[in-house]
Amino acid sequence: MRRLVIGNWKMNRTVPETVALVGSLLARLSPAADREIAIAPPFTALSAVAPLLKGSAVLLAAQDLFWQDEGPYTGEISGVMLQDVGVSYVLVAHSERRRHLEETDRIAGLKVRAALRTGLKPVLCVGEDEVERASGRAFTVVRAQVARGLEGCVPGEASRLQVAYEPVWAIGTGRAASPAQAAEMHDLIRQELRAVLKDSARAVRVLYGGSVTPDNVDELMPAPGIDGLLVGGASLHAEQFARIASYR
Ligand code: PGA
Repeated sequence: MRRLVIGNWKMNRTVPETVALVGSLLARLSPAADREIAIAPPFTALSAVAPLLKGSAVLLAAQDLFWQDEGPYTGEISGVMLQDVGVSYVLVAHSERRRHLEETDRIAGLKVRAALRTGLKPVLCVGEDEVERASGRAFTVVRAQVARGLEGCVPGEASRLQVAYEPVWAIGTGRAASPAQAAEMHDLIRQELRAVLKDSARAVRVLYGGSVTPDNVDELMPAPGIDGLLVGGASLHAEQFARIASYR
């Protein structure tokens, strides 16, 4: 299975800033056959970035989509529109959306379906918060997020699915999960994937995200069950993201 490293820029960078950052990123990245690299700039920059990435080793990702394909949904962006501008991957239910926009597991499920229907590859984001971990509920929470987010998915869709385990307490805090903590949760996610997708679950990539940096990447990537990374803060710095993407 090819590994996957995605840079999630969140609500950062204007179009000119994006063009500059993509330029310095492309100058630093060295393509490798065993991994895919993608970046998720804000919606407003997607059409400017798409032509810059053509012919490069970097794929385009979006940070969200709506669950309908078109219609009276003011302010929303559909999978069809993302396809139209050259997007391959789309994040679904990132914890910041769950928290600030009250996205639920039901919404996550609808968005995963919409992404698959419109030819995109969804990255379902899951992860427990600090209180849930401290009270011993992390496994139950994550298991339910995976099961509900993938409701209706069938084995034939497995190769287009990704799940990103991002413990909320690790996001933007500088406190990444330890390789052992990540491996333990990735194993649980894999079990849940098998329950839904049977043998095809093997084809789903399970990414880790939360304070990934050049300093911890070489420790995290070899941990059992880590098939890639979702990188936030460090992906806004070309040299850091390039270093992460060239993990050993
Ligand atoms: P971080 O964010 O790398 O800045 O912790 C990760 C994410 O939110 O995807």
